[in-house]
Amino acid sequence: MDDEIDIPFRGIVAQSLAGMYVIQDEVFQYVNATFAGMLGYTPEEMTGMHLRQAVVPELQDEAVANYHRRVSGETPSIRYMTSGRHKLGHAVHLEVHGSSLLYRGRPAVVGVGINITEQLRQQEELRQSRERLRELAAYINQVREEQRARISRELHDVVGGMLTSIKLDIQRIRRRNSDAGIESIVVGVLDLVQESIEVVRSISEDLRPGVLDHLGLQAALAGALRQFSERTEIACELQGENVSLQLAQAKATAIYRICQEALTNIARHASASSVIVRMHCAGDRLRIEIEDNGRGLPSLTPTGKSIGLLSMAERAREFGGSLSARAGEAGGTCLIVDIPLEEGEA
Ligand SMILES: Nc1ncnc2c1ncn2[C@@H]1O[C@H](COP(=O)(O)OP(=O)(O)OP(=O)(O)O)[C@@H](O)[C@H]1O
Ligand SMILES: [Mg+2]
Repeated sequence: MDDEIDIPFRGIVAQSLAGMYVIQDEVFQYVNATFAGMLGYTPEEMTGMHLRQAVVPELQDEAVANYHRRVSGETPSIRYMTSGRHKLGHAVHLEVHGSSLLYRGRPAVVGVGINITEQLRQQEELRQSRERLRELAAYINQVREEQRARISRELHDVVGGMLTSIKLDIQRIRRRNSDAGIESIVVGVLDLVQESIEVVRSISEDLRPGVLDHLGLQAALAGALRQFSERTEIACELQGENVSLQLAQAKATAIYRICQEALTNIARHASASSVIVRMHCAGDRLRIEIEDNGRGLPSLTPTGKSIGLLSMAERAREFGGSLSARAGEAGGTCLIVDIPLEEGEA
């Protein structure tokens, strides 16, 4: 029978890698070497020590209250995080789990404690490093948009302007020319210049859609969808085009870029035949859904080198929003961008 087996509990407790202790009358009656070691003491030094002495001052009341909640039977078992006070004065972060039981015939708390200082430090480091990564992503997006806007402006104003001057000059030559051979060359050059003007305009517009600044997000999205549909022959629909929005420029740009990447992904990966973009304002949140009827849901967890979805999520997060995905009604993918609106934006 089990109770006949003589398990050497004392030896197990003494050698345990987890700290163990027994507290009675707010005083440590027993601590193993691991628990005492966490706080810089020997078991002999800690035995007889008041509970308060082992805890940082600001958490002493809580520790004593938890001790009494357990021995009174109010909450017989409590697991919580606290900060022990090391013999040298610094804090040691502990996770403790203590339960009430009878020791020498009276209520006591027997507990297990582990040192989570390193774990908390690593968590904090991870949190800081994520935060820095996020700041970096936001900074890269911002610099990228500024560069795009600058190159777009220069292309449009400088190169576009030069091409227009060239066109006017060629037209002047054409008016003064009567040679049929030269006329046909001039017509060819004029066509080429006109084409160049259009290419420059389109690259410039691609880099920074002027319509975004002048007519707002919906008009820019409607334009992008029209172009997308022409290029890919995928049927597109924009719902909620009339939602009234006064978005800050950076936010409108971010949402536009998110939709742009979603469309690029649909063209590249989805094998879809239709796309619906829905815009919808509810209270102080703007929700945009981009739904295709293609191959289905991508994983939003970044894999390998693809950064499209990652960068979409970062752009949304930059404005306090989020990116999520669900299966589309027709089996494809529905990406959902949820962005909070500031006062005056809706
Ligand atoms: N609408 C979609 N339908 C089906 N699969 C998709 C869709 N959008 C994305 N995916 C899948 O999710 C993956 C990740 O997309 P993501 O945009 O992050 O990377 P990518 O498009 O492959 O590369 P890039 O970094 O150039 O954007 C894609 O490789 C694709 O497999
Ligand atoms: Mg992509």
